[in-house]
Amino acid sequence: MNLGLAGRACVVTGASRGIGRETAVQLCAEGANVLLVAREERRLVEVQEEADGAGAKAGGRAAILALDVTAEDAGERMLAAATGSFGTLDVLVNNAGHASWRDLDDVPDADWRAQYEINVMAPLRAMRAAAPPMAERGWGRIVNVCSTAGKRPSASMPEYSVAKAAELSLSRLFADRYAKSGVLVNAICPGPTESEMWMGPGGLLDQSHQMSGAASREEALETAGAKRPIGRLAEAAEIAGAIVFLCSERASYVSGAAWSVDGGTVQVII
Ligand SMILES: NC(=O)c1ccc[n+]([C@@H]2O[C@H](COP(=O)([O-])OP(=O)(O)OC[C@H]3O[C@@H](n4cnc5c(N)ncnc54)[C@H](OP(=O)(O)O)[C@@H]3O)[C@@H](O)[C@H]2O)c1
Repeated sequence: MNLGLAGRACVVTGASRGIGRETAVQLCAEGANVLLVAREERRLVEVQEEADGAGAKAGGRAAILALDVTAEDAGERMLAAATGSFGTLDVLVNNAGHASWRDLDDVPDADWRAQYEINVMAPLRAMRAAAPPMAERGWGRIVNVCSTAGKRPSASMPEYSVAKAAELSLSRLFADRYAKSGVLVNAICPGPTESEMWMGPGGLLDQSHQMSGAASREEALETAGAKRPIGRLAEAAEIAGAIVFLCSERASYVSGAAWSVDGGTVQVII
């Protein structure tokens, strides 16, 4: 299938690791040009090299911007950098995020605010900057990477769940505002995915190992996988594939959706 992404100018936040990294590499392989955004420049340089390699045949290339997406001017800065590198901005993927396991009683106010900043204010500011110029040109794609936890709250990730639910609502508001002008806004709700967020030292796997009392890290991973109808965690590339499709020409009749890519975890049929 030709996704019609060749030559499209994209921004992917949280592109230095996991789901964002895979998304950026797959977009470049389709011939798109991608601005990679995250805070740590060294990791971005590594991904740029990988994405340029993946895009060599199809003509896709990557540029980088080291930026904290929760900065108040982050939306304008990403738009300016994408325009500076590629001449325009066609596709925005709001993906940057972080999470930790905690009981509801143990979450300080600062952490409730931090999850709201990264999952609501950062995507809001990015969409406020990117969507109007896309609408003027009559074409755009925006994908907000939310979570199964936004569809039904996870008791072990309280502030994250609430912020992801708010992000789903925000995504739908922008979808309804911009659909008629050719800018299609959608959300993806991944289930547990073997990115650094889960697998890295001190990540969600280590935390769930400690909190669940599992005998080993391996047992904790098996238990987390067994909770899914599909029986395992996702690979980052499996989530990225769905994001890239929503960024594409082929997703031309999808707007305001919140697609689960969760191995069947959230058992709803609408
Ligand atoms: N992994 C899962 O199980 C899972 C499940 C459902 C939803 N999700 C969602 O999927 C998205 C990606 O998660 P992942 O698993 O790929 O996580 P990851 O491997 O930990 O990568 C997170 C990315 O976000 C960047 N980032 C974090 N805070 C940032 C900030 N303030 N400004 C700019 N960049 C920032 C990180 O780079 P720097 O640290 O260098 O900034 C990194 O590139 C997140 O929104 C997450 O909530 C993940």
